[in-house]
Amino acid sequence: MLKVLILPGDGIGPEIMASAKTLLTALAVPIQMSEALAGGAALAEGLDLIPPETLARITDADATLKGPITTPIGRGFSSVNVSLRQHFELYANVRPILSLPGTKARYQDLDLIVVRENLEGLYSGQGHSLSEDGNRAELKSIITKAGSANIIRHAFETARKLSRKKVTLVHKANIMKSTSGLFLSTGREISQAYPDIAFEEMIVDNCAMQLVMNPERFDIIVTTNLFGDILSDLCAGLIGGLGLAPGANLGHDHAIFEAVHGSAPDIAGLGIANPTALLLAAAMMLDHLGLGDAAARLRGAIKQTLTQGKCKTSDLGGDASTEQYTQALVRAL
Ligand code: NAI
Ligand code: MG
Repeated sequence: MLKVLILPGDGIGPEIMASAKTLLTALAVPIQMSEALAGGAALAEGLDLIPPETLARITDADATLKGPITTPIGRGFSSVNVSLRQHFELYANVRPILSLPGTKARYQDLDLIVVRENLEGLYSGQGHSLSEDGNRAELKSIITKAGSANIIRHAFETARKLSRKKVTLVHKANIMKSTSGLFLSTGREISQAYPDIAFEEMIVDNCAMQLVMNPERFDIIVTTNLFGDILSDLCAGLIGGLGLAPGANLGHDHAIFEAVHGSAPDIAGLGIANPTALLLAAAMMLDHLGLGDAAARLRGAIKQTLTQGKCKTSDLGGDASTEQYTQALVRAL
């Protein structure tokens, strides 16, 4: 039996995780699921934000499936998500963007992957400070050649494994000459080892525009942490919204699978969240665990249900609850 640790998260987390547990059970895969707490859910039980026991259970698991965890804006605790990525050195955040039938997608045939560096740069929040008078704020961005090489190599290896044709490195090296410049020069160097895959460079603001106007031109995008965060939400918008975009946080020894979206406090507790993004993340996890057939069955059930179009959550223009949609998926399986 493979060990899967479930972190339900908060906000809509427990609602969409219930759906994922139902489908993983219905797939009858050889995995043993257990749960642990992190974030607000752990604080509510009088535990640490990331209890040591949760860290030990993630270490022990073959894979972790995680719900979204709220991060307070501006004050309060720092991000549990970022801390977990740092702690387990999950350097690669892989976010496939695939159009699904029966959705309000702006583009019907998109199939691209955002490969986001997950540990460095502005997003990692190193050197936060605010002067005593509150008039000056500072944050450090540190980019290393080793960190850049890890993620860029991951993008090229993914391209080879999936027979993809092109890697686009997205940067802002014209302005952020040191940090983005190092990322770009590392990419130029590494691309030499992959003559079979086209290598393209693009400045991030142009990339945002190109993604909206002409997203079919992209295959694999590799970029630094903050740019990847922003562009992957943009990409989710192209295929019908955050309810459809999954992600994997991958390291050499551990992997945490989750949706791209957050805890969606505006709809939490209403039972209407779309669990598809988390379910597609669960499918990525099944692939990772060598259970590719089950992953394909899960994706097939989602495609079939959305194509029929009778049972959809409200973000996709339907009126089904999370539970009704989940039951439709179980029937499709
Ligand atoms: P969000 O991604 O939670 O929500 C943005 C919008 O998309 C909202 O209108 C929401 O209702 C909608 N949405 C998101 N997921 C949906 C789903 N599955 N079904 C239907 N609609 C969905 O972003 P927001 O509001 O900026 O962040 C809320 C909290 O989540 C913040 O505390 C943030 O830090 C945290 N967050 C956590 C992440 C994680 O755990 N990996 C990732 C992103 C944000
Ligand atoms: Mg984000």
